[in-house]
Amino acid sequence: MRTDSVRMLEFPQHGDERGHLVVVEGMKDIPFEIKRVFYIYGSDANVVRGCHANRRSEFVLINVAGQSKVRVRDGVGNEAVFSINRPHTGLYLPRMVWKDMYDFSPDSVLLVLSSEPYDAEEYIRDYDAFVREVSGHA
Ligand code: TYD
Repeated sequence: MRTDSVRMLEFPQHGDERGHLVVVEGMKDIPFEIKRVFYIYGSDANVVRGCHANRRSEFVLINVAGQSKVRVRDGVGNEAVFSINRPHTGLYLPRMVWKDMYDFSPDSVLLVLSSEPYDAEEYIRDYDAFVREVSGHA
């Protein structure tokens, strides 16, 4: 199943008496070159974001502050829930998994790294359409 490759990654930390510094390099600490960065903050605890799958983009989600949860579904009956809550860890999401982000803490800053520039056409925003596409009946 596609959710097999969904996994938490741990990034190198360079902490000293001055504080912490975390490094994320494309093709080294994560399995793609970084083409896009965006971040999400100010989402209330009752908000659900994401609610889509991507045909081409891979992502790494890092809560650089605060915490959130991500539910991942593969469209053929498997799902997993991850708590993202440490600045030196990130959740890797391959192509074609459905994701919902929720339970944002008030201080949540969710940094997202992506393998592709933004293209609205590669987003699947209808869950039934996603299931059909995954099962080859689109
Ligand atoms: P949206 O996909 O709804 O965010 P989320 O995945 O958190 O639910 O995006 C919100 C708006 O931002 C929408 O108008 C599209 C725009 N947007 C871009 O222009 N570029 C991007 O890379 C992203 C992720 C969103």
